[in-house]
Amino acid sequence: MGDSARLDRRRLLTAGLAAGGAALATRAIGAGSEPAITEIQDWNRYLGEGVQSRPYGIPSEFEANVVRRDVEWLTASTESSVNFTPLQDLDGIITPNGLCFERHHAGIAEIDPAQQRLMINGLVDTPLVFTMEDLKRFPRENRIYFLECAANSGMEWRGSQLNGCQYTHGMVHCVMYTGVPLKTILQEAGIKTNAKWVMPEGADSSAMTRSIPLDKALDDCLVAFKMNGEALRPEQGYPLRLVVPGWEGNMWVKWLRRLEVGDMPWHQREETAKYTDLLANGKARRFTWVMDVKSVITSPSPQAPVTHGKGPLVISGLAWSGKGRIKRVDVTTDGGRNWKTARIDGPSLPKALHRFYLDIDWDGSDLLLQSRAIDEAGFVQPTKNELRLARGENSIYHNNGIQTWHVKADGAVENVEVS
Ligand code: MTE
Ligand code: CO
Repeated sequence: MGDSARLDRRRLLTAGLAAGGAALATRAIGAGSEPAITEIQDWNRYLGEGVQSRPYGIPSEFEANVVRRDVEWLTASTESSVNFTPLQDLDGIITPNGLCFERHHAGIAEIDPAQQRLMINGLVDTPLVFTMEDLKRFPRENRIYFLECAANSGMEWRGSQLNGCQYTHGMVHCVMYTGVPLKTILQEAGIKTNAKWVMPEGADSSAMTRSIPLDKALDDCLVAFKMNGEALRPEQGYPLRLVVPGWEGNMWVKWLRRLEVGDMPWHQREETAKYTDLLANGKARRFTWVMDVKSVITSPSPQAPVTHGKGPLVISGLAWSGKGRIKRVDVTTDGGRNWKTARIDGPSLPKALHRFYLDIDWDGSDLLLQSRAIDEAGFVQPTKNELRLARGENSIYHNNGIQTWHVKADGAVENVEVS
């Protein structure tokens, strides 16, 4: 233990990050003084459970607090509601399937894949109906994308409200989808020349319909049946969902049963078919499909306080943009006066979460932590006040403003705003 602590310290020093020579607060040990090593523990004594005791594995009982959570007062019922990804407990860029936030308008539809059909009709040469087996005979692709609900961070428009990144930013997840390009399916049916929109419809009782411009449908959308290698979870639209990379989550229709090709979108036929952003002057932003560049520090954060005292501290977070890759993430520890470039680690993929780190030597004083992401299209994440100036405070959707966490001397963390 002493050796590895020294090694870590050396690494920090060569990286020039532990200015002042901070050491990890590891105790030096004399022989025989570490009971966890020298004394027989319970788990050394028994024969453990055999291989088939957990045919579908679950996390350790010590991770029982790593779960999706909802906010009871947010919605009238749990069926038309949302829960949140526990971002504060996760690392890397992939969200485990059981922790992906859920948003549904009429509860979870439980669909027998043998009964599942996908119909394509409207402005096509040949209307078609596919079974799951049919779909699995087309060439398929594997792609990692984030999905963010347009309402993510919506409760924070008027001021800091919810104490934890799970609640402020947890309507996002990022998994590897396996599916067939929507383009392949559309071409199989043959698109008529006057077609302009593709309108997916869900099989749940809310019969979600959305309108997707044909260009996007032919670009990078997928009809997906797997997430992170296994079948979609029922919560995520089993057995089939639409993937609309970089665009707001409500368009990613789950329990997908029909694709209508048309020349006029649903939202010109029905009032409720699209979200709009209400501005201060009473006008609304109508087409806000792309999710703008955004980031958040996931640790430390209110649900992930600093418990180890001063010295080396790993600041970590997530950044993403519907416009492509993240080019850079800056982190400040003093509320925006000084910024340092964070280290992005792991894959940097377009329209996927990016993981960043800033490794600091914490002197134990109060910190005002913020992260600011810049995407490859050149867009810079705005402050909340910049957003409010541009859009007023009536909106719920598309809040990509910079989040501030106040880390106190005792390690506790609070959601605050700095002007
Ligand atoms: N699709 C159907 N059929 N029904 C729904 O209620 N909710 C949408 C979208 N697709 C919804 C749906 C919304 S608003 C979002 S944000 C995403 O699904 C959430 O996807 P998730 O539950 O996999 O996180
Ligand atoms: Co949504």
